[in-house]
Amino acid sequence: MTNAGLEGVVVADTLISDVDGERGKLVIAGADVEQLAAVSSFEGAVSLVLAAGSGTPGSGLGAAATGAALGAARAAAWELVPRLGDALEHVDGMDALRTALAHVRSTGGDPGDALAVIGAAPVFVAAWSRRRAGSAAIAPDPKLGHAADYARMTIGAAPSADAVRALDAYLVTVIDHAMSASTFTARVIASTHSDLISAVVGGVGALKGPLHGGAPGPVLDMLDAIGAPDHAEAWLLGELAAGRRIMGMGHRVYRVRDPRAAVLETAVRPLASPRLALARAVEQAAGKILRERKPDRPLAANVEFYTAVLLDAVGLPREQFAPTFAVSRVAGWSAHVIEQRRTGRLIRPASHYTGAMP
Ligand code: COA
Repeated sequence: MTNAGLEGVVVADTLISDVDGERGKLVIAGADVEQLAAVSSFEGAVSLVLAAGSGTPGSGLGAAATGAALGAARAAAWELVPRLGDALEHVDGMDALRTALAHVRSTGGDPGDALAVIGAAPVFVAAWSRRRAGSAAIAPDPKLGHAADYARMTIGAAPSADAVRALDAYLVTVIDHAMSASTFTARVIASTHSDLISAVVGGVGALKGPLHGGAPGPVLDMLDAIGAPDHAEAWLLGELAAGRRIMGMGHRVYRVRDPRAAVLETAVRPLASPRLALARAVEQAAGKILRERKPDRPLAANVEFYTAVLLDAVGLPREQFAPTFAVSRVAGWSAHVIEQRRTGRLIRPASHYTGAMP
């Protein structure tokens, strides 16, 4: 029988992360996501997932050495920016990132390639974002933290300490999520013994779709269209009547609220976003309507719901939300590529032919 969505099919043993969809728990390299987002920088989380992917959990480079390596990788990527020309102009951010990452030179080994692409992603996304807004791209500062430098390269000024903390919490929270569609894509590519950069470029392609990473921009559009809590119910009913889905709600694996929604809702608080109260009201109204419409299928807020509020409060334009997801997830994909290469087999499922026979 065909299982088109591959639900419940286990394709890998992994040390990198675990999702419990029934209980709403996410563990990343041995730590609860709530705990990791509260205490770790993105650099620390990168060190953890790469060590886990390498089969040596707990013994990575550490946050400081990873941060230094990522700073050097950002500087190296900046050298490529002038050569990218039109690749960063007049295109969607995910298309720009996909094209730009393909220009990263392989270091000849997975750990080096991983740091090169993780370092390059924010440089390319920020350069694309600046050019899109008609401004000059800003060079990275290798001495800064990854989140702080990404925000600075985008906004053009030093971000507040609260904004850096919130962005760091976001980047840590979405760094990995078990066998997501983009992670599976990256692992399929790695399973053919192709290179890490190709696998990561494939991951960007899978993440781009609105059913995966493309939802947070539309979530912000939805909040804008609703405007005030009183309008939420009528607007949401109109969407469903038109046959559209409510963005930021529902998940393939979670049957309760996505734990990352709570982490991001907490992380955004110090930024005093004017949209937070509205987002909470819309989430409540959407939850109620979807419970009535689909009593057998729990549909609660997913990570994208509060991603939209957080990244907006940090000062990133909504077109940059999906690429910012990739700026973090590139680390998870890289860890999975390393793990796949270490432990996996060629991934080659079967299909059921329904056409004519000769
Ligand atoms: N709004 C309205 N209805 C939804 C819905 C949503 N956000 N998510 C799922 N449903 C409905 C589907 O229409 C379907 O109804 P049907 O059986 O009458 O056709 C039912 O719930 C089951 O959905 P299904 O498509 O089988 O779920 P899935 O596991 O394939 O999809 C998502 C998971 C995330 C793709 C889906 O919930 C979705 O499209 N959400 C909105 C986009 C989004 O937020 N993406 C970010 C994900 S992190």
